[in-house]
Amino acid sequence: MTNQTQPSHSDERLLLAIETSCDDTSVAVLKGMVVLSNVTYTQEMHAKWGGVVPEVASRAHLAKMVPTLEAALAEAEVKLTDIEAIAVTQGPGLLGSLLVGINMAKGLAQGLNIPLVGVHHMHAHMMAHFLQEKGKAAKPTPSYPFICLTVSGGHTQLLRVDGPLGIKVLGQTLDDAAGEAFDKSAKLLGLPYPGGPLIDRYAQMGHQEAFALPKPRIAGLDFSFSGLKTAIANLVAKESLADPDFKVNRVNDLCAVIQARIVQILVDKLLLAAKQEGLKTMALAGGVSANSGLRGAAKALEAQGFEVFIPPMSYCTDNAAMIGASAQSMVETKHFAALTMEAKPRWPFDEFWSQGETLSLL
Ligand code: KG4
Ligand code: ZN
Repeated sequence: MTNQTQPSHSDERLLLAIETSCDDTSVAVLKGMVVLSNVTYTQEMHAKWGGVVPEVASRAHLAKMVPTLEAALAEAEVKLTDIEAIAVTQGPGLLGSLLVGINMAKGLAQGLNIPLVGVHHMHAHMMAHFLQEKGKAAKPTPSYPFICLTVSGGHTQLLRVDGPLGIKVLGQTLDDAAGEAFDKSAKLLGLPYPGGPLIDRYAQMGHQEAFALPKPRIAGLDFSFSGLKTAIANLVAKESLADPDFKVNRVNDLCAVIQARIVQILVDKLLLAAKQEGLKTMALAGGVSANSGLRGAAKALEAQGFEVFIPPMSYCTDNAAMIGASAQSMVETKHFAALTMEAKPRWPFDEFWSQGETLSLL
């Protein structure tokens, strides 16, 4: 049983979205696909632990949830009672973190008697392409069908997107995600978490051919990054025998080599997917699409006749605006969640988009 009703004027629907799946507390207000506000508090205390500590993350979400919500409403210049639907990340993610957002969303939906939408975090990364900015001319969005390479800290997927809820997973990682490959490589170099952005920064001052790294041979459209980690560990161990400060002295070159290899693996498969599906439109999504090397290499594919969409930096890493974009597309098709909705820390993407039963229809 749900207490929700579908709002009218769907293009203009005022929706509040919440994202707390990992280490960002984010709240956004959208009118249709236009972002009125998108306020994100990033938990930086995890750096000293070398990775996200789940218990610390959920406590920090609790502390920041209400102030972030208030800031998002104030920036959007709307009252809570004006909101017509509530969206929240249902999964995948850290259970304790997801629960903070979900409980807030349920309380708001029940209190305001408006629809609740449970969003799949990876669907949201892809849907970020359809967000528009308040007060700015409408920007072009990918036309269906297109290939989307979604690369985050927890997932690496190649999608064929035929529509907002018509998505086929063409390939995914067999081990580490692309973001993990960046973060784990950075850790081997002694860099703090999250290492991806630091590798990006140092890589710009290094030579990508300074060292040779093996290229994984994975058939088809799946990915593998775990061999890369081992190769870097071996390279650092070997070179440190002659120069104990090797990883400090050569950090720029090491970062350039690592980034170039990860980017090459991703772009090769992106190209293969587009060719296999006979599609000319491509999109990047997820935190790793903030990487300058990946953005440059993907954009360079335009010389081969592809149209390449890259999200603005603010919508690459985790944010609630993208959760809102996903939810707006689901409200269109009446994919509402019940107030009994549960967090799904592990939620296979295929189950989300293809199985009606994973989403309760009003
Ligand atoms: O999508 P996201 O914000 O969170 C998850 O859903 O996981 O992605 C976070 C990941 C982290 O692994 C982070 O190191 C990586 O994105 N990342 C980057 C860059 N910015 C964020 N990796 C490489 N270069 C970047 N500039
Ligand atoms: Zn993400």
